[in-house]
Amino acid sequence: MEQEDRPPQPERRGFLKKAGAALIGGLTVLFPVAAGLAVFTDPLRRRQSRPSDAIQVTSLHALPEDGVPRKFPVITSHTDAWNKHPVVPVGAVYLRRTGEKRVQAFNVVCPHAGCFVDYKPAKKGFLCPCHNSTFALDGRISDPKSPSPRGLDELEVEIRNGTEIWVNFQNFRAGGAKKIPLS
Ligand code: FES
Repeated sequence: MEQEDRPPQPERRGFLKKAGAALIGGLTVLFPVAAGLAVFTDPLRRRQSRPSDAIQVTSLHALPEDGVPRKFPVITSHTDAWNKHPVVPVGAVYLRRTGEKRVQAFNVVCPHAGCFVDYKPAKKGFLCPCHNSTFALDGRISDPKSPSPRGLDELEVEIRNGTEIWVNFQNFRAGGAKKIPLS
């Protein structure tokens, strides 16, 4: 009991002072280093890779010559915060021939609120099942009462090596008249 009440010895005080200073100095150095490392290594902070711009979707042989649209998944490799996924569907497109070597492509997502549109052969056009927007074969709004603020989102298409159909796949913001790409 008596020992507890006694003030610390000078050597002990000196040791405590040095230990305290070393601890504070260490923390001063370590904290910014640890914070920097956390920022650098946190996968969520790393830029996620997006699908490459042009993706091979199919070949001309898969499209009827009469211009009837066909729906195709868009599949590519994709890297998220933690993993690289070699084969991932990133969306879907309608493709239709507009010439022997010419193809038109639309994103299947309705520009109104993001539902997937269906092709209706009997109507020779597209219908969105959510709020009944209708689109002609060329993607334009066919019924003025359609709530969609714009026609289907057309995508750039390239024919490579004579038959390969490459699409510059992109999603766009829904709900507005302007076609604004989503990053
Ligand atoms: S989401 Fe297509 S009409 Fe509303």
